[in-house]
Amino acid sequence: MSTQLLIERLSQMGWHHTADQIDGLLEDASKDNVPYSEFLNTILLNEMEKRDSLALEKRILKAKLPFQKTIHEFDFEFQPSISEKRVKEVLTCRFIENGENVLLLGPPGVGKTHLSVAFSMEAIIKGYSALFIRADDFINECKKADKAGLINRVIKRWSRPDLLILDELGYFPFDELSANILFQVISKRYDKRGAILITSNKSFLDWGKIFGDEVLATAILDRLLHHATTFNVKGDSYRLREKQKAGIAPVQI
Ligand SMILES: Nc1ncnc2c1ncn2[C@@H]1O[C@H](COP(=O)(O)OP(=O)(O)OP(=O)(O)O)[C@@H](O)[C@H]1O
Ligand SMILES: [Mg+2]
Repeated sequence: MSTQLLIERLSQMGWHHTADQIDGLLEDASKDNVPYSEFLNTILLNEMEKRDSLALEKRILKAKLPFQKTIHEFDFEFQPSISEKRVKEVLTCRFIENGENVLLLGPPGVGKTHLSVAFSMEAIIKGYSALFIRADDFINECKKADKAGLINRVIKRWSRPDLLILDELGYFPFDELSANILFQVISKRYDKRGAILITSNKSFLDWGKIFGDEVLATAILDRLLHHATTFNVKGDSYRLREKQKAGIAPVQI
């Protein structure tokens, strides 16, 4: 059988990686007298590994993370208010399996977004789908969707992933429309036990101000906190420390 025909059939079956490598694979197998079963196994394994790594890349792209950082780059000594043990528990991603939420609260620069990205990366590596969105982008997307008559579409988009990450809640106030859409997303995810990860610079008591509506804030918090882990991150800004080390910011006394 001609190799060209083999390549065509492999491609038709979606075995593109094997189709690309087939000449070398056949040559190695005949040269080394590889048993049929081992040859088939090698091809299958290569194809499966390639598919897994492509799927991982796709999940990373779809998650729209603002940067790629892992937990190994997080300095726990600088951040003693965070229990490494609790962080490790979140990294197991059991919270996603159980449909629980993770809330990271604290002032600017203490590592909330870094941790949320590290948690998301771990989830993506474990095979979960994730979607990261900053609160101000959420608000803008709501306005755009409203203009285009596509509110249901954004609600669906934010309800679908295994893990939804909403970053920087509290820096910008939500208008009535975006607060309402957020409530619907949280409510839908609560019903189907889809995990949410939220970072905020505001304590729960101040969430009424974010949404301009105490009753709505209570309803949102009620659902979020029913099954949730909260990290109260404290301390100085890591950004400022970096600047002080570089001599471009005054040392705080
Ligand atoms: N403990 C830490 N170890 C290593 N890097 C850190 C740590 N804390 C923060 N950083 C780094 O400092 C920068 C600021 O952190 P991050 O963006 O996570 O802060 P944040 O809490 O989300 O702040 P903001 O509320 O302003 O968004 C990032 O580059 C992050 O990687
Ligand atoms: Mg942040």
